[in-house]
Amino acid sequence: MSAEVKVWDPLVRIGHWTLVAAFAIAWLTAEELDRVHEWAGYVVLGYVAVRLAWGFVGGRHARFADFVRGPGVVLGYLVDTARLRARRHLGHNPAGGAMILALLAGLAITGLTGFAMTTDAFWGVEWVEEVHEGAAEATLVLVVLHVLGVLVASLEHGENLVRAMVTGRKRALESSPEPATAAAERPATST
Ligand code: HEM
Ligand code: HEM
Repeated sequence: MSAEVKVWDPLVRIGHWTLVAAFAIAWLTAEELDRVHEWAGYVVLGYVAVRLAWGFVGGRHARFADFVRGPGVVLGYLVDTARLRARRHLGHNPAGGAMILALLAGLAITGLTGFAMTTDAFWGVEWVEEVHEGAAEATLVLVVLHVLGVLVASLEHGENLVRAMVTGRKRALESSPEPATAAAERPATST
């Protein structure tokens, strides 16, 4: 059996599955159980805030600097994926990284407009309700694409990424740790 290395820290793992549960509860209780809906939404918002901070001070693979890449790199990675020759990454791959930013933005807009609806200033304001609903639906579409992406990457590289999000561990990289370009993009301080 090949060696395994620790990739996802506990905050990322526990946070991810808490987020999945809270997002599902918020969806299932919308217009049914207002208090549960709002509290689930606040859990989502709280985690998004924590995750944004963790993106700067967290462990190596939790940092935005480790997985946020420009549109050209993301597009190139998607093309490589379609050709079944995308490179395996220990942390998030460039397309996964872009999806994480999109998910966090969708969750933030949904949660903040939800909160706005409970304030005197925005209560009953139609456009706020519409943005809330639209952002919730758009985020749900992103989640479906996210899960499909996880499945495709798992199949392509013969590994179980869902299990890795539970245990935090992944098979070590077989070849050279990182290509020259990615290594050059990384700040010298990251370990
Ligand atoms: C059952 C459904 C889901 C599964 C199986 C799943 C699986 C995963 C996996 C395997 C990763 C790590 C990807 C990688 O290896 O690069 C990940 C990351 C992530 N997922 Fe999901 N996911 C699910 C639902 C969701 C939902 C509902 C959300 C948000 C509403 C979400 C948001 C995220 C975020 C933000 C990350 C980045 C983790 C981090 O770096 O903190 N996921 N997911
Ligand atoms: C971030 C996760 C959240 C998701 C996925 C979500 C999703 C939804 C959805 C799908 C609706 C139904 C819209 C409709 O069909 O009319 C809705 C309504 C609503 N949401 Fe959220 N929401 C979230 C967070 C929040 C938060 C944090 C609050 C407030 C603190 C909130 C307050 C409301 C209110 C007041 C409504 C209108 C409900 C009604 O008409 O009875 N939501 N939300």
